[in-house]
Amino acid sequence: MRLHQRPALYIAFALSCVSTGNAIEPISTSIAVGMAAALTGLLAIYPNMLCSIHECCQEEWIAMNSTGLKETLEGKLFGQHLATQVILKAVTGFVNNKKPKKPLVLSLHGWTGTGKNLVSQMIAEHLYRKGMKSGFVHQFVSTAHFPHADHIDSYKDQLQQWVRGNVSSCARSLFIFDEMDKMHPGLIDSIKPFLDYYETMDGVSYRQAIFIFLSNAGGEKITKVALDFWNEGKKREEIQLKDLETAVSLEVFNNKKSGFWHTSLIDKNLVDFFVPFLPLEIKHVRMCVKEELKSRNKKPDEDIVNAVVEEMTYFPKEEKIFSDKGCKTVEKKLDYHL
Ligand SMILES: *[C@@H]1O[C@H](CO)[C@@H](O)[C@H](O)[C@H]1NC(C)=O
Ligand SMILES: *[C@@H]1O[C@H](CO)[C@@H](O)[C@H](O)[C@H]1NC(C)=O
Repeated sequence: MRLHQRPALYIAFALSCVSTGNAIEPISTSIAVGMAAALTGLLAIYPNMLCSIHECCQEEWIAMNSTGLKETLEGKLFGQHLATQVILKAVTGFVNNKKPKKPLVLSLHGWTGTGKNLVSQMIAEHLYRKGMKSGFVHQFVSTAHFPHADHIDSYKDQLQQWVRGNVSSCARSLFIFDEMDKMHPGLIDSIKPFLDYYETMDGVSYRQAIFIFLSNAGGEKITKVALDFWNEGKKREEIQLKDLETAVSLEVFNNKKSGFWHTSLIDKNLVDFFVPFLPLEIKHVRMCVKEELKSRNKKPDEDIVNAVVEEMTYFPKEEKIFSDKGCKTVEKKLDYHL
């Protein structure tokens, strides 16, 4: 708003400079007319000029790069064939749909360090030119933003206002809710109406928005399925969505501790996609270390890779197949070794 008022000010300023205190009257008049015309023209294209510098809720700043997203998912998200498939299909399908009936709601589940945050960032980076720094991307971490259970009522109001305010200023807004399992059930309930099939609410349509929920809920079930496959000598890549989907939604649904079940998110089918993240194996941790080295412009030194991989802890105790923390601590461990 503030910025839109500026051109008018400039014009007033420019005109007063030209028309006052100038000795060469006739010329100044024609200059004034010419300038006014030029400035009026400028004003007409001004919104676009503004948007070429400042982030706007327009195509120059918000455009899905599906090829790019596919490339990053396939090249930098390790060991997650299911998440890669589901995310790509869900997000691309949604942004290409001119008339979605509801906002896109993704629920990402899995063990810590398996790539849930990474995937949310990848989506943001390929949908918004400014990526995670975009003013249209909003991230909430339960324990940081809503830490006190006794403030729940003010959190509810605040969160509703934020979501409403942000979606009214840009329909294509992205909301990422981290640590969903630690979120107060009442708080989840408060955003439920935004996820529903309403055409508008108080004049605001939420149908272009994207909500991503991250949680560890279901992680144990997913791990169990992965372990069963391993024990049966089957390939991890053979795990299909149907092997996990019911297991995950049932566990999330029945887990009274997770808070998730309280809400009718699942009950009412407000979640469009459950995205399972499998526990990472040693080879995936290796890939993470190499990728991290690459992003720091370092050679993939085998000694360093081995050192980091060996420092991580693995489970189950005997077989030591999966990394306890996925790739989560790779970055820090690498800091120490470099
Ligand atoms: C889409 O992403 C790919 C890979 O990251 C990149 O090479 C390409 O320039 C991007 N296209 C646009 C239009 O930004
Ligand atoms: C949008 O959300 C952010 C939190 O991410 C909040 O600080 C801001 O006030 C919201 N904007 C509006 C217009 O409500």
